[in-house]
This record gives sequence, structure tokens and C-alpha cells, in this order.
Amino acid sequence: MNPKKEGRLAGKIAIVTGGASGMGAATARLFAAEGASVVVADIQVELGEAVVRSIAKAGGTAEFLRADMGRHEEIKAMVDFAIRRFGRLDILVNNAAVESGKTEVDTSEEEWDHIMDINVKGVFLATKYAVPAMKQNGGGSIINISSAYGIVGSPGFAAYHASKGAVRLLTKSTAVTHARDGIRANSIHPGAVDTPLLRKAMNACIDPKEMEARVKDSTPIGRLGQPEEVAYGCLFLASDESKFIIGAELSIDGGMVAQ
Ligand SMILES: NC(=O)c1ccc[n+]([C@@H]2O[C@H](COP(=O)([O-])OP(=O)(O)OC[C@H]3O[C@@H](n4cnc5c(N)ncnc54)[C@H](O)[C@@H]3O)[C@@H](O)[C@H]2O)c1
Repeated sequence: MNPKKEGRLAGKIAIVTGGASGMGAATARLFAAEGASVVVADIQVELGEAVVRSIAKAGGTAEFLRADMGRHEEIKAMVDFAIRRFGRLDILVNNAAVESGKTEVDTSEEEWDHIMDINVKGVFLATKYAVPAMKQNGGGSIINISSAYGIVGSPGFAAYHASKGAVRLLTKSTAVTHARDGIRANSIHPGAVDTPLLRKAMNACIDPKEMEARVKDSTPIGRLGQPEEVAYGCLFLASDESKFIIGAELSIDGGMVAQ
């Protein structure tokens, strides 16, 4: 399959981590529909391969790679794979993450390390290897998926808040350090978006329906977001339309942190 020649990302090569599900899958599909060749990286093999098949069916170009964002060598191999398979790297979406709904008291040291390894160290390592690759072709765009929970606190998500706050500031560090290499880094801060991750968190509550109602109620727009609504933010930041935007944080949250 030849890459699409038209679209807002025509000719660009992208990696989307956590691309098998939720916002990552929506972003991979949208990027491919807009002309990018996409590496869908995830630990969920069947779902990731299904995303790639759906992209191919729609006339796009994508490859699945099993890559664990908690493992250094697999992250390096992911960047190498994109270059070997497609020749260059223009866009990195650091989207893979895990959640933990526990307080500081209830979180074990192992759980803390696990969340930090994937949500923070994974972003650092992917950036570490993507930056030199992007520099070789004059620049690129790095989009880090943080969270509304990377901006404001809430009870009971200690490690997740810490990880998403770290991603927010790491993004600004990457942005100012590599701006003159033509590399733009920006963060996206989703609110409550209807994905397996959110459903799992709500289903862990005593009354999931009541929790869903509360989440909607605390969101000014009064509903959950859809993965595609975040994917469109990624598309804008990945495309040359945002070429003066560096170190910005884009809230896509139905007004959650505006209140
Ligand atoms: N859904 C929400 O309400 C919400 C809100 C704010 C931020 N976010 C963030 O959005 C991003 C996407 O989340 P989502 O809601 O689409 O979740 P999701 O669970 O649907 O998708 C996350 C994907 O990441 C993958 N993943 C997990 N650990 C991995 C690892 N070690 N290596 C590679 N892949 C791994 C999973 O297999 C999954 O396919 C995450 O960074 C999440 O923290 C989600």
C-alpha cells in the first residue's frame, strides 16, 4: 500500500504509542486518513493489528509493532523500526499510559514505580530516541498526552497525577530545548473521554452509573468526550498548521479545568 499523497499529514511518518485502543487508535486512524504512514505501537497485539487492518481497509498505511513503553530496549527498537520501515520519523505521539486510582497511603512502591515507568520514563525514552531521528530530517512534532489530571488535583489518583504533571513539564523542557532543531513538543490534556481506560476506572467504583453521572456533571459540557475529539487535537499539533506552537498545553476536556 502506497502512502496517501494528500491530506494534512501527507508524506509524514508517525509513531502512536498505545495505538491499539481509545484515543491512540482514533489518532492512528485519523493520521492515516490524513496521509501519514503510522506505526501503531502497543502491548495489545490483537487490538493493534485490528487497528492496522482497519487503516489498510480505508486505504491508509500503517504497521503494528509490539512495544512495551516500560522497556527501554523496546522503545529504542520502536524508533528504529519506524526508520527502517518508512525511512524517517516526523511525528511521535506519546499516548500509552496506565492509571491507578489510589491515594498516597494506599499506593505501594511497586505500583508507583510501574506508573512512573510507563507514563513518565516511557515518554522520556521515546523522546530521547525520537529527537535525533527527527533532527536528521530537519525537525518534527512530539505530542505528549498528559491529562486534565496533569493540571489539577483530585482525591485518590496520587501516582497518576504525579505522572501526568511530570509529562506536562517534560514537554515544555523538550519544547524549549529542541525548538531550534525544528522539533515542536506540546502536551494535550484530555478530560473524561469514553475509552476502555475510563470505563475500567468507572467500573471499579461501587456504583459505576452514579460515577458516570458525577463525571458528566463535573464537566461543563455535560457529557464524556469521544476519542476522535482528542485525535483532532493531535492532528492539528502534528500538522504544519501549528508550526509556531511550541510548549503549549491543549485542554480537550469539555471545560473541566476552565472552572
Ligand atoms: N480516557 C480518559 O478519560 C483520559 C483522560 C485523560 C488522559 N487520558 C490519557 O489518554 C491516553 C490514552 O488513554 P485512553 O483513555 O485512550 O486509554 P486506553 O486504555 O483505551 O488506551 C491506552 C493504550 O495504551 C496501551 N498501553 C498501556 N501500557 C502500555 C505499555 N507499557 N506499552 C505500550 N502500550 C501500553 C494499552 O494497551 C492501550 O491500548 C493515556 O495517556 C491516558 O492517561 C485519558
